Amino acid sequence: MSKQRPIILIGGGGHCMSVIEAAESAGAAILGILDAPEMVGRHLLGHPFIGTDTDITLHAAHADFIVCVGSISNADTRYKLYHQVLAAGGQLGCIVASTARVSRHAHIGPGTVVLHHALVNAGAQVGENCIINSHANVEHGCTIGSHVHLSTAATINGDCHIGEKSFIGSRSIVYQGCSIPGNCVIAAGSVVRNSLSKAGVYAGNPATLKKTR
Ligand SMILES: CC(C)(COP(=O)(O)OP(=O)(O)OC[C@H]1O[C@@H](n2cnc3c(N)ncnc32)[C@H](O)[C@@H]1OP(=O)(O)O)[C@@H](O)C(=O)NCCC(=O)NCCS
Repeated sequence: MSKQRPIILIGGGGHCMSVIEAAESAGAAILGILDAPEMVGRHLLGHPFIGTDTDITLHAAHADFIVCVGSISNADTRYKLYHQVLAAGGQLGCIVASTARVSRHAHIGPGTVVLHHALVNAGAQVGENCIINSHANVEHGCTIGSHVHLSTAATINGDCHIGEKSFIGSRSIVYQGCSIPGNCVIAAGSVVRNSLSKAGVYAGNPATLKKTR
């Protein structure tokens, strides 16, 4: 990751607007957006659609990339685009919004965005290509796997582990020390009181398994 290089956003939908807001607040230079061919020539919040994901190679030498496709019940598209950037010789950038805080004692991996008012506290380790959405709280000592989406105002209390590609819904709470495996979906507003053992969709307080995956 190079902080100085301009960034190119991949996917120009709703989540991209939040990333643009965060990137602008952090002073990042946005070169443009890659999306479907019919979007080329249009603009999103003043930023041009400059090509499609097949153009990643063209820009790999002079820009970093951020995958801006959102993910709720399935992180596969974000995962695929992330690996497409790497395969094209590209690098992933990070964005930390001006009102977000990543402790100097924490680490976030390449491709991860930390949106407004989110906190990644001391001792936390966040993987690659994650979304730490607005107002989310990653407390001390947590490990967050790659391609995870912590949705708006999700609270991950101290020393939790969230496995790769999982989604934690808006305003969910994960009790301290809990472990959630990869490929889980925690419904909005749920409370995870104990560690979970298998991938699935969980909901409620306490969160119970609704569907296996
Ligand atoms: C979990 C979610 C993805 C739905 O998943 P789904 O696979 O379509 O599941 P369904 O809607 O069929 O619901 C499955 C079960 O979970 C329950 N459920 C779903 N969401 C729930 C919630 N937020 N709280 C409590 N129960 C919930 C349903 O009532 C259903 O229960 P039942 O089987 O006992 O009838 C969706 O409810 C959700 O929470 N989305 C995330 C919203 C969010 O945080 N958005 C932020 C975007 S940044």
